[in-house]
Amino acid sequence: MKHRLAFIGFGTVGQGFAEILLEKKDWLYNKYGFDYNVVAISDPLKGAVYEEEGVDLKTILNYVKEKGKIDEYPRGIKGWDSIKTITSTNANVIIEVSPTDIKTGEPGITHIRTAISNKKHVITTNKGPVALAYHELSHLASTNNVFFKFEGTVLAGTPLLNVGLEALRGIKIYEIKGIMNGTTNYILTQMEEGKSYTEALTVAQKLGYAESDPTADVEGWDVLAKVLILGNVVMGGNLKPKDVEREGIVGISKGDIEEARTQDKRYKLIGRVWREGDGIKAKVGPEKLDTREPLAQVGGVKNAISFFTDDLGEVTIMGPGAGRKETGFALMSDLLGIYKSLCCQC
Ligand code: HSE
Repeated sequence: MKHRLAFIGFGTVGQGFAEILLEKKDWLYNKYGFDYNVVAISDPLKGAVYEEEGVDLKTILNYVKEKGKIDEYPRGIKGWDSIKTITSTNANVIIEVSPTDIKTGEPGITHIRTAISNKKHVITTNKGPVALAYHELSHLASTNNVFFKFEGTVLAGTPLLNVGLEALRGIKIYEIKGIMNGTTNYILTQMEEGKSYTEALTVAQKLGYAESDPTADVEGWDVLAKVLILGNVVMGGNLKPKDVEREGIVGISKGDIEEARTQDKRYKLIGRVWREGDGIKAKVGPEKLDTREPLAQVGGVKNAISFFTDDLGEVTIMGPGAGRKETGFALMSDLLGIYKSLCCQC
């Protein structure tokens, strides 16, 4: 079966995934027998196109690179908004990569709800909907017999949620803790090397690490979304944003970083989720770690998360936590996961 993909949103991550799809098309077919067509793209700024038989993805990526728009792409139906693209195209997999809004989850929640209700599989890297509406959306997906996958919402393409949900099946997880935001880790590392906060943030934005609104990174909202996802998806909780104490890195000055250095310490923005009694608790905030601690040695855009478990003790996963292709790859992993599950059902 040839999967028919529709992109809802076509920003950095969407384009990164499109590039991977193009570069690996033949290899994916030879290795896994996996084949696809991208049938639609809808982005509120770049425009929209739908071609039932599949668009020419290479040409579209060139239009976006050169003109920032896909409007001049010569074929197909133009101008359909996200909802019309989800409901009225022949896509069977919706790639929801619209910008994250951690306060409302929209428009992502509406996109995903609509897609699932129309019996389409959803893969997403959008943290808002998973952080705020995971239980509703996953229930809706199982009722409609479709997949809802979101590996890239925590630690980008570095496998983390699938490890927590599948590889660690049967183990008791007491706590999950780590560095979960590439932008702030990059900024803190660069500040230690003498750059100013603003210089470091500008580079992080250029490299595609930061959220469209970088206050989400530096004020800890992005990590808040990730601890909600870990708490609710992996640890089975029902946390809401108001349950989580949150602090970002905006209050950390160069002076603080210098002072920590004289104490052989280093600031890191840490997210934690843990069991307490019958409940799940979570917290986000900067912590001054001893430089010999493993997490203190995770620098730049790298992230690392540790699971604290009964039978395995501490299990730590480290890898890129942001970036164009690094996040795009998570969508590939989810898509192939769906493909494999559907094949097995054939
Ligand atoms: N802005 C996020 C980060 C992107 O810097 O980690 C990945 O969630």
